[in-house]
Amino acid sequence: MMARAHPTLALRPYLPADASLLAEIFRASVEELTEEDYEPAQQEAWASLADDEEAFAVRLGKHLALIATLDGSPVGFISLDNPTDIGLFYVHPAAAGQGVGTMLYDAIEKLATGRGGSHLLVEASDNAIEFFQRRGFEPQQRNSIAVGDEWLSNTTMKKKLAAKGAVS
Ligand SMILES: CC(C)(COP(=O)(O)OP(=O)(O)OC[C@H]1O[C@@H](n2cnc3c(N)ncnc32)[C@H](O)[C@@H]1OP(=O)(O)O)[C@@H](O)C(=O)NCCC(=O)NCCS
Repeated sequence: MMARAHPTLALRPYLPADASLLAEIFRASVEELTEEDYEPAQQEAWASLADDEEAFAVRLGKHLALIATLDGSPVGFISLDNPTDIGLFYVHPAAAGQGVGTMLYDAIEKLATGRGGSHLLVEASDNAIEFFQRRGFEPQQRNSIAVGDEWLSNTTMKKKLAAKGAVS
């Protein structure tokens, strides 16, 4: 059999069996992709939010969550926590910067638009502000969130969605 020249990126819905692997992706993503904007103690507190994998699985199972796979293996995920809120959004550092986040975000935006949502909101971590800005989000307010013994800053950002069926 010939080796495949291009790895295949795909999307699928979250399954409960994914939780443990997604918790690992979450921790690796926080540890390796946020160090320019957060102190080590803040990263540690943030990464530890996935330590209780049962609670992490419950959180993911409650919402619409999509998984990005590379040749069948999960490399990132995103959740829509109610009709308007982007919740968890993490890509494994080994797969970052290759369009995985864009694919996940585009799918969630399409779903939210298809459900008739007027806008999307995200509490963007400092390292993700540019990502959302380039996709049409505007900053609304700065927040300080208590995570364990640490305080982490993020920014509430909002994007208006085109009306369902509108021609752009
Ligand atoms: C934010 C995140 C999900 C983006 O995923 P990704 O797969 O790297 O995104 P993409 O490869 O689609 O890259 C999207 C863009 O960001 C840029 N980019 C990706 N990683 C970057 C980084 N670490 N620093 C600066 N720019 C980056 C890419 O060049 C690309 O540019 P474009 O907007 O012109 O297309 C990912 O970096 C991540 O998991 N970060 C840590 C966790 C986090 O902060 N999550 C967001 C919570 S709101």
